[in-house]
Amino acid sequence: MLLSYLRERLRLTGTKYGCGGGGCGACTVMVSRYQPSTKTILHYSANACLLPVCQLQGAAVTTVEGIGNTKTRVHPVQERIAKAHGSQCGFCTPGMVMSMYTLLRNKPQPNMEDITEALGGNLCRCTGYRPIVDGCKTFSQESNCCQANGNGAGCCLNGDSSPQRSENELPPQLFDQEDLLPLDPTQDLIFPPELILMAETEPQVSQLFRGDRMVWVSPVSLEELIQLKTSHPQAPLVMGNTNIGPDIKFKGAWHPIIISPTRVQELFKVTKTPQGVCIGAGCSLSVVKALLEGLVQEIPEEKTEIYRSLLQQLGNLGGQQIRNVATIGGNIVSAYPNSDLNPVFAAGNCILNVASKSEQEILLNKDFFVGFGKTSLKPDEVVLSVFIPVSRQGEFMRAFRQAPRKENALATVTTGMRVMFTEGSSVVKELSIYYGGVGPCTVSATKTCAAVIGRKWDEQTLSEAYTQLLDEISLSPSHPGGQVEFRRSLTLSLLFKFNLQMLHKLWEMVWTGSLFAQLVAYLHLKNLHHYTGTFLKYQSGDDPVGRPIMHRSAISQATGEAVYCDDIPKMEGELHLVLVTSTRPHAKILDIDISEALQVPGVVDVITSKDIPGKKFRTFTGIDEDILAQNEVSCVGHMVCAVVADTRNQAKRGAAVVKIGYEDLPGPVFTVEEAIEKQSFFLPKRMIEQGNVDEAFDKVDHIYEGAIRLGGQEHFYMETQSMVVVPSGEERELKVYLSCQHPTYAQESIAETLGIPSNRVSCHVKRVGGAFGGKVTKTSIIACITSVAAWKTGRAVRCVLERGEDMLITGARHPVLGKHKVGFMNNGRIMAADLHYYANSGNTADESLLVIEKILLHLDNAYNVPNLRGRSVACKTNLPSNTAFRGFGVPQSMLVTENMINDVAMMLGCNAEEVRGKINMYKEVSLTHYKFEFDPKNLLRCWDECKEKSDYDRRRKSIGQFNQQNRWKKRGMATIPIKFDIFCVCVSVRQAASLVHIYKDGSVLVSHGGTEMGQGIHTKMQQVASRELHIPASLIHITETNTSAVPNTCPSAASFGTDANGMAVKDACETLYQRLEPVRKQNPEGTWGHDLHMDWEKQEGQPYAYYTYGACCSEVEVDCLTGDYRTVRTDIVMDIGRSINPSVDIGQIEGAFIQGLGLYTMEELKFSPSGVLYTRGPSQYKIPAVCDIPLQFNVYLLSGSDNPHAIYSSKGIGEPVLFLGSSVFFAIKDAVAASRVEAGMVGPFTLDSPATPERTCLACNTPFTQKIPASKQGSFQPWALNIP
Ligand SMILES: Cc1cc2nc3c(=O)[nH]c(=O)nc-3n(C[C@H](O)[C@H](O)[C@H](O)COP(=O)(O)OP(=O)(O)OC[C@H]3O[C@@H](n4cnc5c(N)ncnc54)[C@H](O)[C@@H]3O)c2cc1C
Ligand code: FES
Ligand code: FES
Repeated sequence: MLLSYLRERLRLTGTKYGCGGGGCGACTVMVSRYQPSTKTILHYSANACLLPVCQLQGAAVTTVEGIGNTKTRVHPVQERIAKAHGSQCGFCTPGMVMSMYTLLRNKPQPNMEDITEALGGNLCRCTGYRPIVDGCKTFSQESNCCQANGNGAGCCLNGDSSPQRSENELPPQLFDQEDLLPLDPTQDLIFPPELILMAETEPQVSQLFRGDRMVWVSPVSLEELIQLKTSHPQAPLVMGNTNIGPDIKFKGAWHPIIISPTRVQELFKVTKTPQGVCIGAGCSLSVVKALLEGLVQEIPEEKTEIYRSLLQQLGNLGGQQIRNVATIGGNIVSAYPNSDLNPVFAAGNCILNVASKSEQEILLNKDFFVGFGKTSLKPDEVVLSVFIPVSRQGEFMRAFRQAPRKENALATVTTGMRVMFTEGSSVVKELSIYYGGVGPCTVSATKTCAAVIGRKWDEQTLSEAYTQLLDEISLSPSHPGGQVEFRRSLTLSLLFKFNLQMLHKLWEMVWTGSLFAQLVAYLHLKNLHHYTGTFLKYQSGDDPVGRPIMHRSAISQATGEAVYCDDIPKMEGELHLVLVTSTRPHAKILDIDISEALQVPGVVDVITSKDIPGKKFRTFTGIDEDILAQNEVSCVGHMVCAVVADTRNQAKRGAAVVKIGYEDLPGPVFTVEEAIEKQSFFLPKRMIEQGNVDEAFDKVDHIYEGAIRLGGQEHFYMETQSMVVVPSGEERELKVYLSCQHPTYAQESIAETLGIPSNRVSCHVKRVGGAFGGKVTKTSIIACITSVAAWKTGRAVRCVLERGEDMLITGARHPVLGKHKVGFMNNGRIMAADLHYYANSGNTADESLLVIEKILLHLDNAYNVPNLRGRSVACKTNLPSNTAFRGFGVPQSMLVTENMINDVAMMLGCNAEEVRGKINMYKEVSLTHYKFEFDPKNLLRCWDECKEKSDYDRRRKSIGQFNQQNRWKKRGMATIPIKFDIFCVCVSVRQAASLVHIYKDGSVLVSHGGTEMGQGIHTKMQQVASRELHIPASLIHITETNTSAVPNTCPSAASFGTDANGMAVKDACETLYQRLEPVRKQNPEGTWGHDLHMDWEKQEGQPYAYYTYGACCSEVEVDCLTGDYRTVRTDIVMDIGRSINPSVDIGQIEGAFIQGLGLYTMEELKFSPSGVLYTRGPSQYKIPAVCDIPLQFNVYLLSGSDNPHAIYSSKGIGEPVLFLGSSVFFAIKDAVAASRVEAGMVGPFTLDSPATPERTCLACNTPFTQKIPASKQGSFQPWALNIP
């Protein structure tokens, strides 16, 4: 693929690997081709990971390095994304830059829709997207608007003045637009003239590439293509490679011969006739989209029903990079069960033109789709084109899809529906309904259609149709992909949507009046993107502290020059390591047969536990964990051995043939319920209590018991686990370059594993492409294995996990089952609460015992509950071991608490905000349940300010009105507070050090213990050093984190990286500054900085230094028919003390909020009944994309807040805001409650987290979900486990 060619052969490492399957956009490049027929150059973005190099004859590829760099000239796209603070860890940035760059090459003044479409195929895990969009929209005319009020009210374009700002507020700009380089298209690289000459003059000849295991043939004529297909009927035709590529990579498909007909002109022909349009099968989906958009403009609207339906689907199909290469023929022939286009083609009576030895037409109907990935095409047949007819008078068509994410996600259910009415009446003449996602292939609701044809389109007919449909489209309860009830209800509710739209049409055609109002309720959400960032000024002068200074590496990240671990050039003799993991959840290892692996060319060795010279296990919180499994495996994904070879592919081939003999052990444990039943725990359990809970329950007005399940969360750092271990020196030292948050821990672990002192191991971290807690313990264990390989072979060894391996092996956030019993008074005052937390730890303890402690220390959140008891336990299961994740248990803990508050409000029939704010929140200097005194003044200020800024009271009323007027769409709103403790309980990880060198030329080099993973710690340290040394920040360089320069570092985690390291840098700089005093005196004109503990026996302590407070109000609109939701508006007020760098902190706030939104509303880890993780890449696991940011997103930093416990009165911010993503969860729950009222259901109900469209739709309890018969528990094996 082009990606490995660029990175490994050409050493162009700006293009990144994030997933290898077209799902993340990190590898985006621009491909340009000259079109001799039109004499134009076509530029399009593409995923290098799916682009076969053999297909690139005659094409020019532009990578991020090609558009600008720091040595010559930075391109405005690179500059603007960087200056708008759109680059945190920076790993996604080159891909973002290239998507935007390609857009600008095609459209120098794009609108907002163009921008969001261009970025739709790129994922970012750090920023929350707002700053990236901000940077990109500076190219758009629309960005000249003040964007003050989202929907235009009070907007400058309406002649309204700017919103009122207090005296000490800076304008809501985190970067200066005046300062930006202009876009000058004349500076762009020109298309290579030799390629134009080649295309114009050189005859096209067929090509053949022969590899070790594969032959690639690229014919140029149709005749040749047919001949090839006749001789090699099993050879696939590779066009966009978006189906074949992932099959080869992820499913191990192998094709000795591949035919690539991308140069066969007949496959690209487009013919327009009055009857319709015939589109060549080789046309990309982007070309098809542009063509149909043109046709919709050109021909009368009534003829474009099918075209508009296709456009509806094409707008959401994959990301732009996928649509640019994926072909219409490939989409049809791939015959995905949930293809978006096939149901529309089939319902729209489209026809395929097919050629083998002869040509024929095939109607694209139910007979064409014969099974999973199978059609009725014969192996030697080639699809030439597809004919799409114009619609006839009285004919209407619609397409609908429901997917786990609005964009760039395969649909759960997708459909094409076409009806034709008898002229002048509502009698159905033709009806065709096809669904995707409800069977092994595109399926037709033939019987349902037959039952409706000839009848009037009215309520009676439709109501019978739903019953028929339910009978006809049936799914087994064990259906692959699960979500059976949801899928079935979607088949009905999507037909209902079609019904509503057809009623509208009939109203226009046949009826008048009454139905229209019902339909207005159905309008789509406004697709307005609007953001304001407001921050406060408290500082003046040249002091960099407190200023929104750009991330110091942002430019080099945007140009692709920033070096990540796998960008380090290959060392002499370097080997690659691939892990071999268990395929059994719980088994004895009988033997490991490596003989075949050693025969694979290039394989040098296989590392097993026996090769470990030192300690064969790591000890976490007193519990041992094997580095490589010794006698037993305890989860699928347990690391057993590792193959090292000259290349990664050779190591992979070797790993595939290692044979491990297992003897299954009985009764694996997967869920917390199973763990409770079998008492499978990591001990000790924890308990904390204040007051007398049992007694208090006797005195309250009401008692309610509830529960909530919270699923895990994959870290999905964009840079997967990466490391290079290099043996060096005379006395067998190791230099370890790795992407990790805690280099000192890695150093200690490696030294113990090898049985050598720590002073022989130095760990180096230049930067980390995202971590979020997932690169502490897990990285260290993999580094130990890689070090054993380097130690044994004496050669440098590189280990870079593929996305699927990373997701399988390295665990996630702990899923939790939370139960509550709450006692409260008639006015909502909670007098007693008893909470139980069961965390699914997986197969090893890792940091689980610390996580369950943190869960208990946060269960009060912002509330003063006089009698409060919490119990938590880490359940030992046979799933991959879970680990730290941003928030470290707090997001789980507080969700349970807030859910309890929500239940109290629902019991009393009042708004949850009343129960939260006025009645139960801490109000004065108080003691927490662990007897720590604090002042909640700023918590209350955040709460009040949030309600005021979000205009809570007015909007609450208007939501009520909206919900009264709309039956199928409901709005909901929730305001959530947070009180988050900063500083880790564990003393050994709280120290920090810094080494500052002042060179004779006046430049300064700072080393400190924090690792830069996008949170901007290096930028903040530069600001600190600048202030303390009284010199410009430009004179200061922050070097890599290196355990030989700064020993015994603390992990960059728990939001205290800046606090700890900032003090160390400050201290070092102060010392040096004082030492320089005599020098300054001599030449006055010269230029140029707790005692924390927790006693679990006494249940008291001061485990934290201080609290970060905040509050967040979110409003959502939920489509009750599909469970789809959109965040309409979010307002966050955070007290982060005196921000050292508001842009970095706002970036952390927005990024954490979006990550929380993902946790609570969309990200779902799914395991098979035998404990195999299904969700191993962005295709199956959905993190938020640019389409998920709130339509209006306001962040405010609380003014006038001080913090005596941290550097320059700032506060830790990395973790707390993640929990505020739960405001979206509770807003969804609020909207669902409104829907349930329509079904006559009031009072508390269970909605587990994440509130996916599936859970939301089922909880809404519409007439359609009610029709689905529940499968009898125990009568079938579900497709996936119900974790926790
Ligand atoms: C990240 C990602 C997201 C996606 N999202 C969506 C989505 O939301 N909705 C959706 O519907 N699809 C989605 N897809 C699927 C995508 O649309 C299809 O993979 C694509 O259209 C296939 O076209 P291709 O040219 O890449 O096919 P290739 O991979 O090149 O070929 C696929 C198959 O089609 C056959 N074939 C191709 N052309 C012909 C021809 N002319 N005649 C006969 N056989 C032919 C090949 O032999 C091969 O078997 C997604 C794919 C990816 C990777
Ligand atoms: S690496 Fe290519 S899309 Fe993810
Ligand atoms: S900045 Fe986008 S993934 Fe880190």
